[in-house]
Amino acid sequence: MNITLEKFADLAALVEGQAPLADSLDHGTSHWRAVARTGLELCSRTPDADPRLILLFALLHDSRRVNEFADPDHGPEAARYLTTLRKEGIINLSNEDSTTLAYAMYHHDAGETSDDLTIAACWDADRLQLQRLGYWLKNELLSNPLSHTLEVQELVSSYHESDELSWGDLFIQAQALCSR
Ligand SMILES: [Fe+2]
Repeated sequence: MNITLEKFADLAALVEGQAPLADSLDHGTSHWRAVARTGLELCSRTPDADPRLILLFALLHDSRRVNEFADPDHGPEAARYLTTLRKEGIINLSNEDSTTLAYAMYHHDAGETSDDLTIAACWDADRLQLQRLGYWLKNELLSNPLSHTLEVQELVSSYHESDELSWGDLFIQAQALCSR
């Protein structure tokens, strides 16, 4: 990854510190880390998906939420937040990667699917975690056929409760996937 563990830990602390709903059980940091863990699990089985972008998606996608329920602007706000963090030199991404990540965040709750393997892993990771809120998963809203399997759905359903991986652990997982 183009960032050190220390810098990523600083970024995670900054984003958490600025997130209005960071402590929310439904949309706060435990959910973000469950999305990261789920996305990296999908990524480990999808060699062309980008673990760095999946990790950043997980950290940022709900970080601008101000409402637990209807909050249609939180995806676009997350994309704008990415622009700010890049301008401040806190996140260093190519324009191409930034465009992919911004698109994934902007549209993440719009009910779309994607053929882009990285965007698919981001959206599927978030939707697979809908199980925490008692929703039935709809295969037509899961982009990668891998996410339709009961094995994956059952595996990741425990991630929200377990809450055992820190951002540092997740960064190390993503870094290992980068060098595969
Ligand atoms: Fe989410």
